[in-house]
Amino acid sequence: MTQKIIVTGGCGYIGSHTTVALQQAGFNVVIFDNLVNSSADVITGITQITGISPEFEQIDCTDLTAIRDAFSRHRDAAGVIHFAALKAVGESVSKPTEYYRNNLVSLLNVLDMMVAFNIPNIVFSSSATVYGDADNLPVREDTPLKPATSPYGQTKVIGESIIRDAVAAHPGLNSCLLRYFNPIGAHPSGLIGESPSGIPNNLLPYITQTAAGIRECLSVFGDDYDTPDGFCIRDYIDVNDLAAAHLSALRYMISHPTGTDVFNLGTGRGVSVMELIKTFEQATGQKLNYKITARRPGDIPAIWADPSRAERLLGWRARVPLSDTLLSAWRWQTKSMKK
Ligand code: NAD
Ligand code: WQD
Repeated sequence: MTQKIIVTGGCGYIGSHTTVALQQAGFNVVIFDNLVNSSADVITGITQITGISPEFEQIDCTDLTAIRDAFSRHRDAAGVIHFAALKAVGESVSKPTEYYRNNLVSLLNVLDMMVAFNIPNIVFSSSATVYGDADNLPVREDTPLKPATSPYGQTKVIGESIIRDAVAAHPGLNSCLLRYFNPIGAHPSGLIGESPSGIPNNLLPYITQTAAGIRECLSVFGDDYDTPDGFCIRDYIDVNDLAAAHLSALRYMISHPTGTDVFNLGTGRGVSVMELIKTFEQATGQKLNYKITARRPGDIPAIWADPSRAERLLGWRARVPLSDTLLSAWRWQTKSMKK
């Protein structure tokens, strides 16, 4: 029988790619999204890729009445993938209560409705930000968490705890906490991708916008870190690989209903900012205008994942080569500018 999955935040960057993966695997998807950081046009892109239009409920997950109505219409769902959240680290420092309210009230409402309607499985979008500046690299799931350095990060630390407590209290409820490293890239079709509003905070959208002439010059934040080439190191994970991991997590939970589990989703390879720039230039043939500037306050020098737990238990690992990921981001940048 076809299983239905509720995808909150399904019009967003990672949610849209995951919706594609779910539909291609034969799941029915219903998206709950208030479009605060996305557009309903994304549904057209998803439909063009998969040939199936996902159901769409335009609701705010913090609105208990609206979310109760929506869950009652979809009480037959086998699980929820909860992406809906605000995610701008800097903005969360200036608007902390907005971030705590949006991200935590949404999560509390989703959990309450899952319990009320006996929906057994939740996949939660957590983040490598919960590790902070870890003492040992690569980080494993049992690496001690550090206090979050932003209200955004704190919503992920608290969100994980809320879910663990809810699962402990409700024997029918299972969860997978997925800690994403740095998601990048777009669908190879160029029909969906990341659409940051305003000036991008993240590195790759800044790179593609600079290469496209929308931004004049990329500032590379610091070249004097204690790393092999002096630049910060991150674990950049292709968004399509990330989408596939959600499918694996969902299948794992459906076949192993064992409470809460947690997985790092990264490639296992650290890449420096300069290595990313050079690989982008090689993959796309675009020369990038960049300059070295001061360090960005709050940046950690290096982090990358030990993803072996996901490989062992979920049978998932990152597959897309970095150059293909960078090409897909560039394709999306150039295609979305023509619209
Ligand atoms: P995104 O902003 O593109 O997508 C989030 C979606 O949630 C948007 O479509 C937005 O409109 C929706 N949304 C937000 N608040 C809502 C609410 N109250 N009710 C209904 N819909 C709401 O972000 P993304 O990059 O796709 O991130 C998805 C999730 O993954 C988030 O939880 C984010 O914190 C987490 N995450 C993202 C990254 C990253 O670098 N992109 C890294 C780690 C974790
Ligand atoms: C990557 C590297 C910068 C922009 C953030 C959040 C984290 C997670 C992912 C949600 C760093 C450098 C960047 C620029 C640069 N999101 N950089 N010039 O900081 O690793 O993580 O996004 O959970 O919580 O903190 O990602 O893309 O901002 O930066 O040199 O214009 O690129 O210094 O080394 P980050 P990022």
